Amino acid sequence: MDESGTAQEQHGVIDLELDRPHSARMYDYFLGGITNFPADREAAARTIAAFPSTLIAARSNRAFMRRSTRHLALLGIEQFLDIGTGIPTSPNLHEVAQGITPRARVVYTDNDPIVLTHARALLHSRPEGATAYMQADVTDPTALLAHPVLRSTLDFDRPIALSLNALLHFVTDEHHAHAVVEVLKAALPSGSMLVISHATPDFDPEALARITAVYQAAGTAVQARPRDEIARFFAGWELLDAGLQPILRWHPDPDEAHLTFADAEAACYAGVARKP
Ligand SMILES: C[S@@+](CC[C@H](N)C(=O)[O-])C[C@H]1O[C@@H](n2cnc3c(N)ncnc32)[C@H](O)[C@@H]1O
Repeated sequence: MDESGTAQEQHGVIDLELDRPHSARMYDYFLGGITNFPADREAAARTIAAFPSTLIAARSNRAFMRRSTRHLALLGIEQFLDIGTGIPTSPNLHEVAQGITPRARVVYTDNDPIVLTHARALLHSRPEGATAYMQADVTDPTALLAHPVLRSTLDFDRPIALSLNALLHFVTDEHHAHAVVEVLKAALPSGSMLVISHATPDFDPEALARITAVYQAAGTAVQARPRDEIARFFAGWELLDAGLQPILRWHPDPDEAHLTFADAEAACYAGVARKP
């Protein structure tokens, strides 16, 4: 196990910016967590007023993380890089992966420093496997890929599943989202997998415009994308059989309650693709 940021922790210089809302802490609130503060809860309440099914969307996204991780572990994937992992919410990705493959190795990363303060919850690896956490910003993919925690935990000569779940709508075109994903894809070997869930305006454009305005007012840029722009993130890779689907329809689990929700309530597309 490894963890970055220890020097920051020792010197007590982490600025958690509690006075302004953060997407990770708002998402924690939507999932029923307790790692959120008044500024997050106020912005979350405005989001729910703008889009009453926000909690359904957040939970559907988390359910997709579990289904896709299980699917990939059953296909034999043993290494996972989860960017924009969020505040830990059990089961976390490594718990799902190691539940199937105990020797699975997982690196988590996020740019919100509060995730670092909770990283220990992400580091309870099965002894046969490994988990690690590093703080990194996806908009600098070259630095992220060079991080020593990543390099010492995952073997870049063997397939890696790269998860970008509910992350890329926080990376606007101004921050070159598609170019960022291409840099990440290029670093991975053949047989690697790309997992993406992404907010879309396709089902309810007015609601998505309202949410975007709420986040913008709270200081977080959001860019929900139509299906063809999300599909472009997978360019050159082969989408697995389910294709790029409304998130509820990606290998739905008959035991999950979310099956009764509408695509407009979840407001996301999801897909998994393999590098040839
Ligand atoms: C909605 S949460 C998704 C959490 C988790 N991936 C899931 O799907 O359950 C989005 C996460 O992306 C992180 N994030 C946003 N912009 C980021 C960036 N530029 N680099 C790294 N992480 C980022 C946020 O801090 C937050 O934890």
